[in-house]
Amino acid sequence: MIVRSEEHADHGAIRAVHTALFPTVGEARLVDALRAAGHLCVSLVAEEQREVVGHVAFSRVSVLGAIDGVGLAPVAVLAAFRQRGIAEQLIREGLALCKRSSHGFVVVLGDPHYYRRFGFMPASGWGLCDQYGAGDGPRTERGLD
Ligand SMILES: CC(C)(COP(=O)(O)OP(=O)(O)OC[C@H]1O[C@@H](n2cnc3c(N)ncnc32)[C@H](O)[C@@H]1OP(=O)(O)O)[C@@H](O)C(=O)NCCC(=O)NCCS
Repeated sequence: MIVRSEEHADHGAIRAVHTALFPTVGEARLVDALRAAGHLCVSLVAEEQREVVGHVAFSRVSVLGAIDGVGLAPVAVLAAFRQRGIAEQLIREGLALCKRSSHGFVVVLGDPHYYRRFGFMPASGWGLCDQYGAGDGPRTERGLD
């Protein structure tokens, strides 16, 4: 299994992964829209025998109107390839690339139990909230230094 940056030829496979694994096409469309808008900072695929089996995206986010961080979403791995650390490798390599690109922080909306292993902490600890009133429980933020 290799993890590498997405290429143009991967776009259809990435769309197929998210369409298959999320209840709606929302995530697949989100990735397409972020890419089209030039907001995808990091987009990595996991490839097994030339097949895209997983994907993670990081895109620009703004705080008080200033773009200074990135958001992690979505991440998905085909069911047959789960529990092998593929998502973990996608996320760790993505975070390393974000850090190298000098993005100041990463936010993620997800399960605290899963994301804590990458260093994410509750957003409230950083004085962060969002315009949608999402609760603090599932919302986490991670500093990059
Ligand atoms: C979440 C997902 C990407 C994990 O992929 P993976 O390659 O199996 O992940 P890893 O092998 O790195 O890690 C497995 C861990 O993820 C946990 N996990 C699986 N699905 C999860 C979910 N929806 N939320 C939180 N944690 C989850 C497993 O319990 C396991 O935890 P453990 O290490 O404590 O046992 C995969 O299950 C998936 O694609 N799910 C559907 C899409 C999705 O819900 N994405 C996340 C929200 S954007």
